[in-house]
Amino acid sequence: MAENILEVRHLKKWFKIGNPAIKKVGVSYLHACDDVSFEIRKGEIFGIIGESGSGKSTIGKCVLNLQSSDSGEIVFDGQDIFGYSQKKMKLLRKDMQMVFQNPLASFNPKKRLGKTFAEYGKFLDMTDEQYQNRMKGLLKYIKLSDDVLSRLPKELSGGQLQRLAIARALMSEPKFVLADEPVSALDVSVQAQILNLMIDLKENLGQTMLFISHDLNVVRHLCDRVAVVYLGVIVEMGPIDEVYSNVMHPYTQALISAKPKEHPLQQKEQIILKGDIPTAIDVPEGCRFASRCSRYKHGLCDHRTPKLKDMGNGHFVACHYPKGHNSDEED
Ligand SMILES: Nc1ncnc2c1ncn2[C@@H]1O[C@H](COP(=O)(O)OP(=O)(O)OP(=O)(O)O)[C@@H](O)[C@H]1O
Ligand SMILES: [Mg+2]
Repeated sequence: MAENILEVRHLKKWFKIGNPAIKKVGVSYLHACDDVSFEIRKGEIFGIIGESGSGKSTIGKCVLNLQSSDSGEIVFDGQDIFGYSQKKMKLLRKDMQMVFQNPLASFNPKKRLGKTFAEYGKFLDMTDEQYQNRMKGLLKYIKLSDDVLSRLPKELSGGQLQRLAIARALMSEPKFVLADEPVSALDVSVQAQILNLMIDLKENLGQTMLFISHDLNVVRHLCDRVAVVYLGVIVEMGPIDEVYSNVMHPYTQALISAKPKEHPLQQKEQIILKGDIPTAIDVPEGCRFASRCSRYKHGLCDHRTPKLKDMGNGHFVACHYPKGHNSDEED
């Protein structure tokens, strides 16, 4: 098995809520990330999936220390980076890169792209020759001609700019890239180009990546393993094909069933999530998914928080009654 590049253990991030109405009854916390543990192996694309507000970006930002975490462990390439300052992280940035949803926000709008790239080359201590060679290779790789460098960011399409954002992330030959919803702001036809570029990165460069998305099709296409998050906790995790073919958590099951049909004639039974979406503020006791769960049972589900259990084949699930397992007994 490949070595781990990243190990995240018991990561916690709660946001203090400043609503005066809530303050009256004491301080409240929004549990954006609660006891989250996973590891990413060298050369793999690890996906994080979940509904909007489930805590995906918070996990990504905490891992890169773009956001402070409350507690936990973050080990990158053998180095414990938990709580690293921005100054210390700057030294690591060439190994830990990121690509975000909106490429326009990733570039200085007033600078021609060539200038932005050249300055970054200098920051990476590249000689002129190294920079020119690297830039030539990257432009070929992302299938853009060098005239784009003479333009301002607003003079490019979203897809072209996102390809340049990826090129910039790759300039330092990073050991790890965080990609947070890198295609969700793009047109469907352009999404495919970017995803193909990502697949190419994995297959030809062996690029390791944490890929955040709410699109199951995209994750299935691209990722080796996936973690499904719900209200700040991982509810299911495992190799992508294993999770799809042997789905155990009712939330993952509902997400998969809500995925659009691949063919209009395909028969598909969709599971509609019932019940209120609980808030991540003052999370309910027991299982966080209990109020919407089709397999909810009074007693265990509303009183005991299910732990992430190893179900074999690298498949983990946090459910008292996982599908296909007669687990009426307590864990
Ligand atoms: N700086 C902050 N202060 C307070 N609450 C925050 C902050 N950042 C995020 N949150 C809250 O934390 C929760 C998780 O947010 P996060 O951005 O991680 O979700 P997400 O899964 O990335 O959602 P999306 O798919 O919409 O990007 C949300 O309820 C959000 O409102
Ligand atoms: Mg997000």
